[in-house]
Amino acid sequence: TASAPDILSPEFAADPYTAYRALRENHPLIWHDATQSYVISRYVDVERAFKDPVFTSRNYDWQLEPVHGRTILQMDGREHSTHRNLVAPAFRGRELAEKFVPVIDQNSRALVDAFRGDGHVDLVDRYATRFPINVIVDMLGLPKSDHEHFHRWYSSIMAFLSNLAGDEQVTAQGLRTKEEFEAYMLPIIRQRREAPGDDLLSTLCTAEIDGVRMTDEEIKAFCSLLLTAGGETTDKAIASVMRNLVEHPDQLQDVREDRSLISAAFAETLRYSPPVHMIMRQPAEPVRLSGGVVEAGKTLTCLIGAANRDPERFRDPDTFDIHRDDLDMGRAYTAGANHTAFALGRHFCVGALLARTELETGIAHLLDAMHDIRFADGAPPAEHGVFTRAPAALRLTFTPPPE
Ligand code: HEM
Repeated sequence: TASAPDILSPEFAADPYTAYRALRENHPLIWHDATQSYVISRYVDVERAFKDPVFTSRNYDWQLEPVHGRTILQMDGREHSTHRNLVAPAFRGRELAEKFVPVIDQNSRALVDAFRGDGHVDLVDRYATRFPINVIVDMLGLPKSDHEHFHRWYSSIMAFLSNLAGDEQVTAQGLRTKEEFEAYMLPIIRQRREAPGDDLLSTLCTAEIDGVRMTDEEIKAFCSLLLTAGGETTDKAIASVMRNLVEHPDQLQDVREDRSLISAAFAETLRYSPPVHMIMRQPAEPVRLSGGVVEAGKTLTCLIGAANRDPERFRDPDTFDIHRDDLDMGRAYTAGANHTAFALGRHFCVGALLARTELETGIAHLLDAMHDIRFADGAPPAEHGVFTRAPAALRLTFTPPPE
């Protein structure tokens, strides 16, 4: 067989999907020296790595610890389930979404109003990177005047996490951000413990199970994680949904005519061009996967984008089709999903329903404000990034609708 694609090469970054096919077909289990990990790409293997408790999450430490501290993502077993039970109720069902729908609606409108008359916009800069962060700040019950601080912290943490080239300035800036964020959050956490309100931060401060509460440090780490886990992902999802729809005008028209299809457009985008492409796991015992046995303690890089385009699971997987019948729409935002974009099993995304509500609200506002949407550069923008992935900019032209 041909030599295996390198997941950190420029060719891979330019077009991972071609490489994903080669990996699935010819190298379902392959050692990658630079990341010191085995790479897996078939749906069955990625699904198993997410669902089977023999696969642990402890090897996130090197990546996340320096900017976030210890978060739920790095936890396993009892520690994870305790922490998850403390935070999950705040995000459960549509309760949270319903409590925060006004916050979501108002933040989205404010951003759209700022460019709706212009006829052109870079949607990544003016909308996608700001909307989810502003929502999180408001949900936590922090002042709107801090939206800009959070946007800056968010940008520098994102840069830190995707700093494959090891740029020293980016590293230093990321580490400084952790300190600034701590200095900002810890006094506020202490205040909320004393005088809790009706906001998410107060809920996190007062949540208690069997006498166990989260420490100040854990709450701070969780809030910091929300910037990337809840911000970067939703940001990239918005950009990718809009890119995919503008690239497929018939489907864009279908969504315009029937707004209930936004949910399908989001789910199909999660399958076809997911925000998160790579997730790490580490088996506690030797396990047999397609292509061989992985020794205990070795890191596995699970390729979400490859699993989601496995022809064993989805017909015509390289086609974007919001009407496809082999994507389980009823469960696309639950741990029973049959795409892998939110992971599966114990670490299944806590914010999936929040993300869905943000997308349903946000895309509807965008379609209301923008008619005749076209790519300003005449062609769809390239995607950017390998761990997380989306267009780096999305320059669109449009006609403002008649008042
Ligand atoms: C976990 C993706 C939105 C909060 C995860 C994981 C993925 C993911 C892949 C699993 C990580 C792992 O197992 O290592 C996404 C995508 C989103 C999204 C694609 C949007 C399109 C959100 C939002 C929030 C959020 C809006 C909250 C504001 C979390 C948290 C976890 C998580 C706290 C950790 C759960 C745990 O470890 O038990 N997400 N996410 N996510 N997500 Fe999301």
